[in-house]
Amino acid sequence: MADIVLTGDRPTGQLHLGHYVGSLANRIRMQDSYQQFVMIADVQALTDNYDNPQKVRENVFEVALDYLAVGLDPEKTTIFIQSMIPEIAELTVFYLNLVTLARVQRNPTVKTEMHQKGLENRIPVGFLVYPVSQAADITIFRARYVPVGEDQLPMIEQSNELVRSFNRIYGEGIMREAEAIVPKIARLPGTDGSAKMSKSMGNTIYLGESSDVLYKKVMGMYTDPNHVRVSDPGKVEGNPVFAYLDAFDPDTNEVERLKEQYQRGGLGDVVLKKYLFQVLDTFLAPIRERRAMLAQDMAYVKNVVEQGTGKARSVASQTMRNVRAAMHLDYFG
Ligand code: TRP
Repeated sequence: MADIVLTGDRPTGQLHLGHYVGSLANRIRMQDSYQQFVMIADVQALTDNYDNPQKVRENVFEVALDYLAVGLDPEKTTIFIQSMIPEIAELTVFYLNLVTLARVQRNPTVKTEMHQKGLENRIPVGFLVYPVSQAADITIFRARYVPVGEDQLPMIEQSNELVRSFNRIYGEGIMREAEAIVPKIARLPGTDGSAKMSKSMGNTIYLGESSDVLYKKVMGMYTDPNHVRVSDPGKVEGNPVFAYLDAFDPDTNEVERLKEQYQRGGLGDVVLKKYLFQVLDTFLAPIRERRAMLAQDMAYVKNVVEQGTGKARSVASQTMRNVRAAMHLDYFG
């Protein structure tokens, strides 16, 4: 049987170009050769949105729409909702015994998020241990590959540590280690030039973005602040306009030509941004169209996710039967 791929997203907003570059593009490619599960991680979303369940609820189907619009095919990819698989929560509880407080406090991605959210001194335990729950997400499906952006590498590392502890204590071969699949361009900067595109920073371009809003966002993008006059030489490194062209313009020769011209001087930001707008609009147009069409038929979208959840649950509960047996918790046979 084909190897299993598992990945997911927190439903805290619509998906954006950063998600596409970091993970969605790989998922679209991988669904043809692997058995792929894609999780809408509502339980994980609640770890820092526990006081706003309505937001999580609303975004579950927004994310499902994004998945289908971008080309995840329900015939090939099983799309499901995390909270509907209580076995994941059960496995999380067992994993929590296998990790120290010091270890969870060391996870660099969690540290960064804690800092960004100003949570250092009042961090909910659920948030601190979400990487443990994420290990359960991955391993309950016996996933071999996890297509993610590079910020998720510490999660996979922590998951593999848990697998090794679990197998050492309860039996070799029960859980399996996974490998992160990180794309060459692993991270897309925000429109403001900051390192990462992220909803909480307000520097995103959504997959369903209208042409009008896209135009405004592109024209308002950060570039090289020292590139004042058209004739001034400009910087390509750290300039998000060129990062986006690298990621989305299929005409790499033209991108090289533009970079040279920009560095030499003589290419204005307005002209350059108008070019980027065309590239992004061409990329987003079919996604936007499919998204709008699918949004007219939410019964279909819901059905896809419901079917997927049923399938995912049967895989997860089979793993948990093995886990319970290995842990001597199979009291009634
Ligand atoms: N932590 C991931 C993110 O913030 C989402 C996620 C939840 C995930 N469960 C997962 C990713 C399992 C990979 C595998 O984007």
